Amino acid sequence: MASKMSGSLNHAMIDGPKGRAAQDYANRFGQPGFDDITKAYIDQNYAGYTEENQETWRILYDRQMSYLSDHASNVYLSGARSIKLVRDWIPYLEGPKSVNTFLQQLTGWQSKAVPGYLPAKAFFACLARREFPTTIVIRPKESIDYLPEPDIFHDIFGHVPLHADPVFADFLQTYGKAALTADDPYHTERLARLFWFTVEFGLIREDGRTKLYGSGLISSPGESKHSLTSKDVDRRPFDLETVCATSFEIDHYQPILYVLESFEQLRDAMDTYARRILDEAARKAAA
Ligand SMILES: [Fe+2]
Repeated sequence: MASKMSGSLNHAMIDGPKGRAAQDYANRFGQPGFDDITKAYIDQNYAGYTEENQETWRILYDRQMSYLSDHASNVYLSGARSIKLVRDWIPYLEGPKSVNTFLQQLTGWQSKAVPGYLPAKAFFACLARREFPTTIVIRPKESIDYLPEPDIFHDIFGHVPLHADPVFADFLQTYGKAALTADDPYHTERLARLFWFTVEFGLIREDGRTKLYGSGLISSPGESKHSLTSKDVDRRPFDLETVCATSFEIDHYQPILYVLESFEQLRDAMDTYARRILDEAARKAAA
């Protein structure tokens, strides 16, 4: 289950019988009879957002977008425009003005509401279907600067704009398929590192400058600036093997970050790695 937080986090939106059933299914996903990941999805229940929730979104959006307009990847910024993210309301997942309506036409990715944290297998199963498990609650206003777990600002504002880009879209699905197939600890650890240093905390070179694209940076007022300006951050060129060999810690600003040359570089490196994982799995199955 999503852990309980103090303040005005709107648990009524996720804690009903449907939310509990979906979370229970996700927790058991992969066991016999639990193979339909769509049963882990819930409705966004949009009417459940309070005026304070909406205000929290507006504050976060204004503050981050003014920095990102000059420091985020053009691919991110163009994605945010394509899915029509706006300051005035928390994004809708479904319906005529929803992110999913725009995403469907662009790449076929969809954001699917989930009641809380998904175990790794369930998470990968979503990505393999071009579906992004999305937290729908938003942080309490009094915790606006820091939340130790994802909320809709992290998941939609931070992640989803890149899903509008065809190259990133293909990379993320390939990642999901490979991660779902890999069942030995060696690959599982490497794939977790790859996700961390790209999807969550990636940087990219664009027009001779280093820009943000990882959702953990995009959605963090403090770390977005720190990652680009601090002398304490070691910004290394992206190389898949190096990334997969780099461990990380989650509870402080990242001291090491990896910088892509392009999203094609990431997609191509992932394609190669995915082929290796799928080939190894096929050989194991045949043995
Ligand atoms: Fe994330």
